[in-house]
Amino acid sequence: RIAYVNGQYVPHGSAQIHVEDRGYQFADSVYEVCLVVDGKFWDIDGHLARLRRSLSELDIEMPMPESALRIVMENVRKRNHLKSALIYMQVSRGVAPRNHLFAKGLVPSVVMTAKRFDLDQSDEKAAKGISIISQPDIRWGRTDIKTTGLLANAMAKNAAHEVGAAEALLVRDGFVTECSSSNAWIITKDGVLVTHPKDHKILGGITRATAFECAQELQLSVIERPFTLNEVFAAREVFLTSASSIVMPVVTVNGRQIGDGAPGPITIRLREAYKAKAR
Ligand code: PDD
Repeated sequence: RIAYVNGQYVPHGSAQIHVEDRGYQFADSVYEVCLVVDGKFWDIDGHLARLRRSLSELDIEMPMPESALRIVMENVRKRNHLKSALIYMQVSRGVAPRNHLFAKGLVPSVVMTAKRFDLDQSDEKAAKGISIISQPDIRWGRTDIKTTGLLANAMAKNAAHEVGAAEALLVRDGFVTECSSSNAWIITKDGVLVTHPKDHKILGGITRATAFECAQELQLSVIERPFTLNEVFAAREVFLTSASSIVMPVVTVNGRQIGDGAPGPITIRLREAYKAKAR
């Protein structure tokens, strides 16, 4: 395996970042996970636009032009001999003696890695649907910035894993925000798709945005509003969106069956529409 680190393609096993990198000490870094299927990057423009936004919110310079980032992403895919992959890209503020204050003029650190992705396997998982559990959303107040400060997300996902669930549905002040690494959606008994508004309490998923467009193209009614856990239990269908899960049906929440306990027909249609659009 090959990783990209600050201008060089190096063996994954010996890829290194300095101990005083601010990404390591302060999670002063942002990241993106991009899906490439059969050599085609899905929603790449959206992911690069969000990277630019995350960096700008933290006052970190774009480490290189977007066109160069695209080339490195493609190189990382090719050098790992992968047609379909999840490309991980991380940009930190850079290396400096430990100090909470942001030093001026740091050179951002850039890392990219690739992980194999199998669309057929993802489709098989989607055909079964996944089980999830709720967890308190204890994250900070700017989860719209895709920072590597993911400890609360990791804790929630681990709590889910411990009881055999695949994801954690995060609840803040009585409302569902999103999941530990995906956005959450319900389809009400009236057939309305509902997902949390894009504000500082959720990460504005790129898959979420495209799924929203697909839903509108399918003439489905979609609204952005907070919803409660009780609305989740009462929903006709529940699903998640993310680059790595695409559109993933949820069949149980906290052990309670959603609908008839099988992936919902609207969710399945939306997943197919998404794939058709992204390809
Ligand atoms: N997760 N919400 C959170 C908290 C996320 O971490 C992610 C992405 C999403 C979905 O965003 P998108 O549709 O742009 O992938 C929502 C990535 C895949 C990860 O951390 O692995």
